[in-house]
Amino acid sequence: MSTSPLPETERPSAEPAGASRLEEARAANAKRREMAQPDEDPALKEEPMVEVENLKLFYGQKQALMDINIAMPRKRVTALIGPSGCGKSTLLRCFNRMNDLIDACRVVGAIKIGGRDIHDPRLDVTELRKNVGMVFQKPNPFPKSIFENIAYGPRIQGNNDKAKLTEIVETSLRRSALWDEVKDRLHDSALGLSGGQQQRLCIARAVAVEPEVLLMDEPCSALDPISTGRIEDLMVDLKDRYTIVIVTHNMQQASRVSDYTAFMLLGELIEFRDTTTLFSRPTDKRTEDYITGRFG
Ligand SMILES: Nc1ncnc2c1ncn2[C@@H]1O[C@H](COP(=O)(O)OP(=O)(O)OP(=O)(O)O)[C@@H](O)[C@H]1O
Ligand SMILES: [Mg+2]
Repeated sequence: MSTSPLPETERPSAEPAGASRLEEARAANAKRREMAQPDEDPALKEEPMVEVENLKLFYGQKQALMDINIAMPRKRVTALIGPSGCGKSTLLRCFNRMNDLIDACRVVGAIKIGGRDIHDPRLDVTELRKNVGMVFQKPNPFPKSIFENIAYGPRIQGNNDKAKLTEIVETSLRRSALWDEVKDRLHDSALGLSGGQQQRLCIARAVAVEPEVLLMDEPCSALDPISTGRIEDLMVDLKDRYTIVIVTHNMQQASRVSDYTAFMLLGELIEFRDTTTLFSRPTDKRTEDYITGRFG
């Protein structure tokens, strides 16, 4: 991926760079908050954690994200919904710069996490990915013991103290509601766990390095309803400590677990509201059509 500017023809006439671009982003957010009516949009009254300004993303010639602007509040769950191919995973992958790994991918615009520009050339991407953890659709434990799966991240950060690692493993497994089920088999292979347990292990692995943001891309779609329920409960518990962004195709799930919901269509952010309002009184006809099952 490169963050190089677009060809002249595609570039907005005055695309500010670096600090000035961030200043503009900050000013635009502050202005939106200032202008909002008190009961108009709760998201605008919250402290933002993930701020996206004029984000465009291209895979080669194909534009997959169209000028996205959104501010996701700190220590809340934000759900991304929308039909297949609308850009939910692409947007999520921008937040820990996973799209860097895709050759033809080009990003224009600003993203701040916790107030820091994540495209700042001085930023350490490994540090960013520690701070912005990711859980995928299919649980992907390492072929190692349960203990070693969790200890892996802290170890590569240079933490080799056995007692400290043991403490981190227990805390992380407790936070992901898995401790009681695995405390007597910590040195068994993680691959012997059920799918739902493996997904909670992946959440424990992500939280072991103390991220501020947790990204989850359809974390329950490979799970049975009971495991899904456990992960949903877990998300609600975890938001005391983390900002969570979840992609889901399941609208009941979005309405059960999220505080805010963003509806996307063909790479555009159509509507971003508190979840109750978005599902009960969507302002855009396309959102209404989607949530009432008229398309998608
Ligand atoms: N690595 C890639 N290279 C080229 N195009 C891609 C790549 N990844 C995604 N796309 C395209 O970008 C668009 C958005 O894809 P994305 O995976 O973000 O959608 P999504 O909303 O997550 O869909 P789904 O619900 O099916 O997971 C699609 O048109 C997709 O084909
Ligand atoms: Mg996807």
